[in-house]
Amino acid sequence: CGIVGYVGSQQAAPLLLEGLARLEHRGYDSAGVAVLGGTGLRVHKGAGRVHALTDSLPKRFAGRTGIGHTRWATHGPANDVNAHPHTDGKGLVAVVHNGIIDNAAALRAELSDDGIELASDTDTEVLAHLVARSSAETFEAKVAEALGRVEGTYGVAFLHVDFPEQMVVARNGSPLLVGVGEKETYVASDLAAIVRYTTTVAHLEDGEMALLTPAGFSTYRLESSGLAASPRTASRLDVDPDAYDAGDHESFMHKEMSEQPTTARRVLSGRLDERFGTGHLGGLNLDPRDLRAIRRVKILGCGSAFYVGQMGATLLEELARVPADAEAASEFRYRNPIIEPETLYVAVSQSGETIDTLLAVQEIRRKGGRVIGLVNVVGSAIAREVDGGIYLHAGPEVAVASTKALTNMFLAFAMLAIQLGRVRDLSIADGRRLIAALNALPEQIEQVLATEDALAETARRLAGAESLFFVGRVRGYPVAREGAQKFKEISYRHAEAYQTSELKHGPLALVSPEVPTVAIVPDDELVERNVGALHEIDARGGPLVVVTHENVSVGDLDCERIVVPKSERELDPILLTIPLQLLAYHAALELGHDIDKPRNLAKSVTVE
Ligand code: G6P
Repeated sequence: CGIVGYVGSQQAAPLLLEGLARLEHRGYDSAGVAVLGGTGLRVHKGAGRVHALTDSLPKRFAGRTGIGHTRWATHGPANDVNAHPHTDGKGLVAVVHNGIIDNAAALRAELSDDGIELASDTDTEVLAHLVARSSAETFEAKVAEALGRVEGTYGVAFLHVDFPEQMVVARNGSPLLVGVGEKETYVASDLAAIVRYTTTVAHLEDGEMALLTPAGFSTYRLESSGLAASPRTASRLDVDPDAYDAGDHESFMHKEMSEQPTTARRVLSGRLDERFGTGHLGGLNLDPRDLRAIRRVKILGCGSAFYVGQMGATLLEELARVPADAEAASEFRYRNPIIEPETLYVAVSQSGETIDTLLAVQEIRRKGGRVIGLVNVVGSAIAREVDGGIYLHAGPEVAVASTKALTNMFLAFAMLAIQLGRVRDLSIADGRRLIAALNALPEQIEQVLATEDALAETARRLAGAESLFFVGRVRGYPVAREGAQKFKEISYRHAEAYQTSELKHGPLALVSPEVPTVAIVPDDELVERNVGALHEIDARGGPLVVVTHENVSVGDLDCERIVVPKSERELDPILLTIPLQLLAYHAALELGHDIDKPRNLAKSVTVE
C-alpha cells in the first residue's frame, strides 16, 4: 500500500491523485484522498482503481493540505468503507496508514465502551479517534499521545481541522520519507510518488515523527517520556525522474526486462579485478582475513529474492567451497535460529523494506551475527540496518514481478562468490575465467531478449493450461522455482516447481496432455539424466518446453526447445532465467491481466 501527502500553496487533490497513480503498480485494492480547505475536512475514497477515484472526484474538493492512500487489505475486506483515509466521524481528524496495529481489537473495544461508533472494520480507524480525543495542545503532541497507546507497525500521516496548514507523520516499521519543495512539503511511502515534484528528501527512522508545514519540517523521536527533538535535514538524491516512467513500453515489467543488459553492466562496473581474477566489493566492509574466517553462508529473502538466494548459495558452494544455503526470511526468525559468529548472513531484497527480511536481519544482529545486504533501494531500511553490502544499482523497479533487480542479485552473488573463493581455493585462472564470462553476460542477455517473438508464441500456448510444472536440477532447480513464481504472480496459473529428479516420486501422477512442463536442461554434467526424466513426461503425453543450450541433444523427444547462449556452467542459471520472465509476461498478456499490478500482491510487503 502507499501513502502520499502534501502541504503547500497548490491545490492538494490533483497532486495526491497523481502521486497515487505512481504508486499503483505496487499493488492495491482501494484508494482515497482527504483534503483540508475552507469548508473543512473532505474525504473521497473507494474500492477500485485510482483513475476511477479521479473521475468521480466531487467538484468542490478544494484544500492546500491533503493526504492520499492506496490500500492493500489486511484487516477487513477491500470495500469503500475500509478504504483510507479514515476519520473520527466528526470531521476533525483524517489518517492514512500502512502497517498493522496489533492491539486494534482492544482499542476498538475501549472506544466502543465510551460510546464511539466505529465506521469500518480496520485497525486504522482507531488512530483517528485517539488523535481526535486527545486534549494535548499541539498537533504533534496529540499524535504522540495516540501513538503511545498503539502497538504494531505503521507509516502514518494525519490531518487535523484545527491545524489547517500542518500535517503530522510518523514511522515505525513502514517506510516514509519527507520531500521538500519550494514553499511546499511532501510525504510519501516511496519516492516514486513525489519524484516529479522533488528529489530533496529525508528518510524517517523507526520511532520518528515529523511535523510538516509549507515552510519545511521538524523531526522528533517518540519516547515514552514524550517527544524529543531529533533534527534531521533533507538531502538531494541523485535520481532521474524519467526512470519512474514506462516510456514507450506497454508496461513497467516490459521496460524493466529490456533494461537488463544495461543494468547488468552497471552492477558489474568497477567491481571486478581482472588482473587478480577477483571481486572488488568495497561495500562489504570485510577484509581478506574476515572473509577467510567465514565458515558458512546463510542467505535470507522472500519470494524471488529467496529463489535467487538459492542460486547464490549454489554459486558460493561451487566457487568458494563454503557451505551455503538460502531460507525464506519469513520463516527464519520463528524457529529460534542458531546464530553463529563464523557464519556470514546475507539479506536479499529489491526494496530493502520487506518486513519479513528486515525482522530477520534484526534478529541476527540482536544475537550478534554479521549481516550483509544485497539491496536495490539506496537508503532503505535493510540497507541501513546491515553491516555492509552490495548495492544492486538496477534503478527503480516498479513492476511487482522482479526482473532486472533479480538479475543483478544473481550477479552480485557471483561477484561475492568469486571474491570469497579467491581468498580460499579458487585459482586465479578460474577467477579470470568467471570474470570474462560475467563481462560477456550483458550481451548474452540481449541475445535472449531478442528472441521475444518466439517466446511469446510459446507463452500463448502455455497460457491455455490451468496448471504447469517447472522442473530443474541442482543449478537449474532455483531457476525452475523462479520461473514458476513469475508465472504464478502475473498469469495466475497454478505453476509448481519441482526437482526433475523428484518427479517420479509423486508429481508424475499429475502429468497429462493438459499439464505442460517447462524443463530447465543446461549443458552440464546432469544433462543425460535430465533428458532421461523428460522422456518419462513425454511417455505420459505431457507437453514439454525445454529451456536449454545449443549443444544439448534431446533425441526423439517431442518438445519445444528454447535455446539460450552458453556461459560458464556456474553462471548459466541467469541466462536460463531470462526466457522464463518473457514466458510469464506473454502468458499474462495473452490472458489479459494487468501485468504490473497483479491481483492480491504488493511490490514491497511491509506487513508481516
Ligand atoms: C513481494 C513480491 C515478490 C518479491 C518479494 C520480495 O512478495 O510480490 O515479487 O519477490 O516481495 O521483495 P523484495 O523487495 O524484498 O525483494
